[in-house]
Amino acid sequence: MYHILAADSIKEEGLLPLLEMENAVVYRGQTDSGEIPLERIDALLVRSATKVTNELLDRMPSLKIVARAGVGVDNIDIEAATKRGIIVVNAPDGNTISTAEHTFAMMASLLRNIPHAYASVKNYEWKRNQFIGSELYGKTLGIVGMGRIGSELAKRAKAFEMNVRVFDPFLTKERAENLGVISSSFEDVLKSSDIITVHTPLTKETKGLLNWETLKLTKKGVYLLNCARGGIIDEEALAEFIENGHVAGAALDVFVTEPPGDHPLLRLDKVIATPHLGASTREAQLNVATQVAKAVRTYFEDKPVSNS
Ligand code: MLT
Repeated sequence: MYHILAADSIKEEGLLPLLEMENAVVYRGQTDSGEIPLERIDALLVRSATKVTNELLDRMPSLKIVARAGVGVDNIDIEAATKRGIIVVNAPDGNTISTAEHTFAMMASLLRNIPHAYASVKNYEWKRNQFIGSELYGKTLGIVGMGRIGSELAKRAKAFEMNVRVFDPFLTKERAENLGVISSSFEDVLKSSDIITVHTPLTKETKGLLNWETLKLTKKGVYLLNCARGGIIDEEALAEFIENGHVAGAALDVFVTEPPGDHPLLRLDKVIATPHLGASTREAQLNVATQVAKAVRTYFEDKPVSNS
């Protein structure tokens, strides 16, 4: 019998491939609840809340596979897992559309002051002059990272007749042409964009990619978006550039520490924020849960597991 733990409220419907297995028992719950026989668990399915640390792996000696229902695997100690021979898989494309759409919604909300206007109307006010926004039409959107999400966002921006400039060292000329985007250097994207959005994983290279030095290169009045991972835009530098008036506003779905608590950026009126909702749609959650459930089942059925 295989013992499988689905943590972090992974969408139940997506677990069907595992629930149908006759030789598996599927537990739901958190690793720290005290209610799960951790020592017997063969497969662990997580979203982002569970931190799969070396210490947790020590308590799970039977573990063979960790499946991340999402893209980023930064909540998993890959090195510690690999040392133990534990496979780590993710769901590389299940939430692409949802995250691209959320980024687009954040961009439109930021430029049209929708969160502020909403709060004002709910407060029985009618201050039309206070919420003059800007059009997206004709603006230059700079996309840093043209993987799945960056590419889907570019398509949507093109539909709104924005100019799209992108930086991605792996982007081919043909793909850029097909998407109708201008492939540029990082510096060019910084210098020429009205709005900049980041869509890279958080790595040693991308941590603080937008920082005191690089933010200086951006246009005065630039808008910044981060719906990827907290820390790609240095939070302290961003707060300073908003306070000194260089950055006109920022839309953030992610923070270095989540939840961010009483964070200096949240005290700034020019910052709008959501609680890491990029992948939080019914469709994306079903997609990623199904993808990882299938991967785990394939693993137990002794077939090769595919991954990004
Ligand atoms: C991801 O990495 O897939 C997204 O950030 C969503 C999530 O963390 O659940």
